[in-house]
Amino acid sequence: MRVRGLIVAVILLPLSACNRFQNSLGGDGADGAHFVSLFTFFMVVCTLMYVTIVGAFLIGLWRARRNAEPLTVDEGKHQAEPPMGGRLLTGWTIAIVIGLTILTVASFFTDRSNAEAGANPQLLVNVTGNQWWWDVQYSSGDASKSFRTANELHLPIGMPVEVKLQSNDVIHSFWVPNLAGKQDLIPGRVTDIQLVPRKIGLFRGQCAEFCGVQHAHMALDVTGESRADFDKWAAAQQRVAFAPQNPVEQAGYQFFVTRNCSACHAVGGSPAAATVGPDLTHFASRRSIAAGTLPMSDANLQAWLADPQKQKPGNNMPRIGLAPDERRSLAAFLERLK
Ligand code: CUA
Repeated sequence: MRVRGLIVAVILLPLSACNRFQNSLGGDGADGAHFVSLFTFFMVVCTLMYVTIVGAFLIGLWRARRNAEPLTVDEGKHQAEPPMGGRLLTGWTIAIVIGLTILTVASFFTDRSNAEAGANPQLLVNVTGNQWWWDVQYSSGDASKSFRTANELHLPIGMPVEVKLQSNDVIHSFWVPNLAGKQDLIPGRVTDIQLVPRKIGLFRGQCAEFCGVQHAHMALDVTGESRADFDKWAAAQQRVAFAPQNPVEQAGYQFFVTRNCSACHAVGGSPAAATVGPDLTHFASRRSIAAGTLPMSDANLQAWLADPQKQKPGNNMPRIGLAPDERRSLAAFLERLK
């Protein structure tokens, strides 16, 4: 009984990785939906072929057994009934060729449907991979409407979006499984992928190319939303967020712009304008800290500020050595960046 329970647990283990937010069979984007259809079709065709092969194998076994008994009496009898006739073999070869041809044609049309869905993009987003976070820049012909964020993407549903991909260090791979396939980010080259989200929801993107010790902590929060919600979000991103409201936040702001933080980070509207680390202009409006490593909360933010190396060992943010009151005021300021 215990062994049977163990077997069931092992079989169910891979399913524990399935969830709504990061699911390559979610079909929440145009490409994703086409892939789900293709995957299902492949499964049906391959299952039919597999069942046929196993069936033929079992029939062969059964016939061999049946023929085995008379053999001891009459050794020549088994030759009268070959295990598989020549005609059957020819038929099976033709079935394989037809099956493979059907799968090839289906793949070709899926590829074409994907290309058509992403044609004529109406929004351009530049995503740059860094060890281990995503720099995200929404570009517009009107420079005043361009803005920068990090580790998050907001996408209006139904709109083809062109994502241009670059890397500042090593090869990463952009992958939002619910929406589309993968695309590598290669240093010194610009690659691209088209996304057409179809459903409102939160999705998880994940770097899909091993890029160092924190590769697993290189996630991207993706929000598919209505056009109106997207416009509202984009308008908020274009505004400057920071406005220290009290002496504690003011102290945090002063620390941020005069001490270590501003050497790497930018906060729109403040003197801090470095681009080495993630842009923090609207930091507190995001869902997570450090590229999906920690959910956004005061406790997690303070833990992160106290010791980023403990939370995500190997990342480029050093331990600053904050006094407890400095840490609290810095957190209070950052939490104001909605
Ligand atoms: Cu970036 Cu893995």
